[in-house]
Amino acid sequence: MFGRERIEYKTPEQVAVMRRAGLVVADALDAVRAVLAPGVTTAELDAVAEEVIASAGATPSFLGYHGYPASLCVSVNDEIVHGIPGSRVLQPGDVVSVDCGAVVDGWHGDSAFTAVLDPADPADVALAATTEDALWAGIAALATGERLGAVGEAVEDVVEAAAARTGTAPLGIVEDYVGHGIGTAMHQPPDVPNFRTRDRGTRLRPGLCVAVEPMLVRGSQVNHVLADDWTVVTDDGSRAAHWEHTVALLDGGIVVLTARDGGAERLRALGVEIASI
Ligand code: MF3
Ligand code: CO
Repeated sequence: MFGRERIEYKTPEQVAVMRRAGLVVADALDAVRAVLAPGVTTAELDAVAEEVIASAGATPSFLGYHGYPASLCVSVNDEIVHGIPGSRVLQPGDVVSVDCGAVVDGWHGDSAFTAVLDPADPADVALAATTEDALWAGIAALATGERLGAVGEAVEDVVEAAAARTGTAPLGIVEDYVGHGIGTAMHQPPDVPNFRTRDRGTRLRPGLCVAVEPMLVRGSQVNHVLADDWTVVTDDGSRAAHWEHTVALLDGGIVVLTARDGGAERLRALGVEIASI
């Protein structure tokens, strides 16, 4: 999508505003987590997020984006991304991916998580956990790597290691949708693929802000868009997970803008100390 277009490098002051947007998104997703249960409709989740964003004086970035009709994407089971909230009632055992974006003073934050409702299929729990691990490994690679391609290498490594550990076939990595630069727009260059590419990617340097967002599936990554023109589903009906954070590169290291602790805990476990913001 984005080739060699110009990257918007941010000043520390601009990153500080993005942090405010990131925390609004974190609050909205926490509020959604708190009500996520069988019997709840996906439209109800959207209303919860919209209320949190509005009370913070922020703006939902998805609403109206290329005509998108909601503040959240809620993608259930075989839906990979861009599920539109509506009358769908969540069921026991559903795999639910919730994606949210908010704007504060013109600066964006974007984050997503996947939860598995009880009683959970252990294979779905593993799918969600491996996707979250892949996200954090990809984020850590922004601190330890030299070029952006380190993210996709880290995601692939996590997927392969998980398969080797369990002796099962590797999860599929969705290639049609990738992470992205983020700042004064939700989607900016550069692309952030979740797989190895020939292009090693742009040099990792302070001011770069990206959304890392691996999407993994239990079967084949081949997918299509439903007639609503948004919802992306797997062709084989296999279940999908999606985790995302907005990350800033600063002089002193990286900060996860959409994580309440800046990513400190998860990154420390991977040997990375976050920068102060
Ligand atoms: N949050 C998605 C992403 O991570 C984009 C949502 S598309 C929208 O890139 F139309 F819903 F806004
Ligand atoms: Co995104």
